[in-house]
Amino acid sequence: MTTEKDFTAGESAERMAELLPAEPHTRLLHSRGTAVTGVFHAEATAAELSTAAIFAGGPVPVVGRFSGTRGDAHGHDAHTGDQGLSVRFALPGEPVVDLTAFTLPVFFVRSGADMLEFFAAIAPDPGTGAPKPEAMTDFTDRHPEAAAALAAGSGLAPASYVSQRYHAIHAFGFIAHDGTQSWARLEWHPEVGLTGLDPVAAGRLPADYLARDLARRLPAHFGLYARLAVDGDAVHDPTALWADPPRLLRLGRLRLDRVIDDHDLDFDPLRLPTGMTAPRDRLAADRSAIYAAARRRRIR
Ligand code: HEM
Repeated sequence: MTTEKDFTAGESAERMAELLPAEPHTRLLHSRGTAVTGVFHAEATAAELSTAAIFAGGPVPVVGRFSGTRGDAHGHDAHTGDQGLSVRFALPGEPVVDLTAFTLPVFFVRSGADMLEFFAAIAPDPGTGAPKPEAMTDFTDRHPEAAAALAAGSGLAPASYVSQRYHAIHAFGFIAHDGTQSWARLEWHPEVGLTGLDPVAAGRLPADYLARDLARRLPAHFGLYARLAVDGDAVHDPTALWADPPRLLRLGRLRLDRVIDDHDLDFDPLRLPTGMTAPRDRLAADRSAIYAAARRRRIR
């Protein structure tokens, strides 16, 4: 369900800032993060799926950023909610390509306007600072599509940024050399496997334990996989889980090897290469516009 009220990207960013106050000049979400550099190597399967230059097989330099969804710049890593991994593929001579992903396999809503309703439901009461469980119940009653994402959290705190799986949520179109198009979701699988921590134990670790762990764990490797849509999948619905077991195609390997300063990176979910087409869902377009407005807001 999309709400009657629609918002411009600028209004959405202002509304987010009211609901989830962030410190000046920090991101409205994912403010806590660590940037890294590395390299991506595509495998032959990738070039069969798409003509995109990043999938041709040579080394592609990348800049990435690991982050926690919630949590301000001084928050505790055990309490930052879901984690994000954004990767910018920077092949010399080509426009850059961005892939933003996070640890949930599906999303709560289908549009930016519905996301503002979600933020309003999870924001604490402005008078008392207390959570508002009735607002969340009201939201889930009106948005049954949020159920899969709300049920997907493991209940564990992150053990490391490099031992999580990251999902890019939207279905992207992949154009092959013969012009055929396949729809798939992209995901990063950690080579060290998946681990989590008891949230109470994690809360006793240093507040920036994920950043500290990251520096120690590099180089770290992730496989890039395409989860190909199969008959019966709600291909263009970012809130819908797809068939299980999935039809996975390994596309390549990412090596992340060095922590760098976060050079005010500005990821855009629609910064895609020739050889890939934009998601058909409304969410991707709304995100792209809101991220640009949020960035203008934080650098002004
Ligand atoms: C309508 C839904 C969404 C809204 C309104 C939203 C909003 C935002 C905003 C405002 C930022 C900060 C942008 C900046 O200042 O540069 C951000 C960052 C981010 N979002 Fe979203 N988001 C949404 C959905 C998603 C989804 C579906 C994903 C997962 C694929 C995601 C993953 C991320 C990540 C990983 C970052 C951090 C980017 C970085 O490291 O710079 N978001 N989001």
